[in-house]
Amino acid sequence: EGTLGGAAAQSGRYFGAAIASGRLGDGAYTSIAGREFNSVTPENEMKPDATEPQQGRFSFAAGDRVYNWAVQNGKQVRGHTLAWHSQQPGWMQNLGGGALRQAMVNHINGVMAHYKGKLVQWDVVNEAFADGSSGARRDSNLQRTGNDWIEVAFRTARAADPGAKLCYNDYNIENWTWAKTQAVYSMVKDFKQRGVPIDCVGFQSHFNNDSPYDGNFRTTLRSFAALGVDVAVTELDVQGAPATTYANVANDCLSVPRCLGITVWGVRDTDSWRSEQSPLLFDGNGNKKPAYTSVLGALNAG
Ligand code: G3I
Repeated sequence: EGTLGGAAAQSGRYFGAAIASGRLGDGAYTSIAGREFNSVTPENEMKPDATEPQQGRFSFAAGDRVYNWAVQNGKQVRGHTLAWHSQQPGWMQNLGGGALRQAMVNHINGVMAHYKGKLVQWDVVNEAFADGSSGARRDSNLQRTGNDWIEVAFRTARAADPGAKLCYNDYNIENWTWAKTQAVYSMVKDFKQRGVPIDCVGFQSHFNNDSPYDGNFRTTLRSFAALGVDVAVTELDVQGAPATTYANVANDCLSVPRCLGITVWGVRDTDSWRSEQSPLLFDGNGNKKPAYTSVLGALNAG
């Protein structure tokens, strides 16, 4: 197969990209994205600050622009994200306690109702664990509403759209030896044991010199899958885009039957949130980089 999406589809997987609504008028961008990917994650357009800028007043214009472009071009869509400490609208940042908890529930219900039946996955909760060796939850206004906020979010989400796979999504949980990885693993295990509705775990996979790719990533993917959840690589980018690392990540996903697919966090290096690291598969001129060739080869060989 000659495209990333087509190559991934041979094993029933997808290969997606984060898409920014502001770039949909750029023909070079849409021609690459339209050709290569069969899944789309809105980079910012379905986050709380975008979808509920004022409390109780939902805004789906930007999210719908990305969604409609995706569907018109034959792509599935992952929703990102419903409950997060970051990119909250100002009114939400100022809430706490029961009022914030209720606002979180209302937000999940409002956004998921709009996209009900349309999205294959939702990142219900994003980045709820702390970095470093503590294995603790990240301090945030949501966490201060009580430790059960994550399971409340998932139960709310299941009721709001029973057709979407509900994911927990985080970074620095790719390395099996890291405390943060083990903490998320324990939470997912507990949720499965207690019947909290969770279907998938998203491994963002923002690899760089401080958080490098490690060959035990496939152990992590396999171990989570063994708990009875699907896994996905949700925001892949790699500092310097080494071809070997990209191929390794593709092979890690291919080695785990429950790995649903891979999403890269942008199209060209110049579209990346870390553009100075040139971390993506296409250069600023839209040319395929060596990492592109290596991923395509891995997908076609798998
Ligand atoms: O919307 C404003 C716009 O009005 C203004 O003109 C412009 C000026 O800089 O800023 C725009 O907002 C920016 C937004 O991206 C849209 O471009 C924000 O300042 C900027 O902070 C925001 O960055 C996003 C970041 O999340 C924020 O947390 C990145 O694009 C996005 O790639 C990044 O994505 C996150 C995932 O959601 C979660 N995992 C980590 C990943 C990388 O940080």
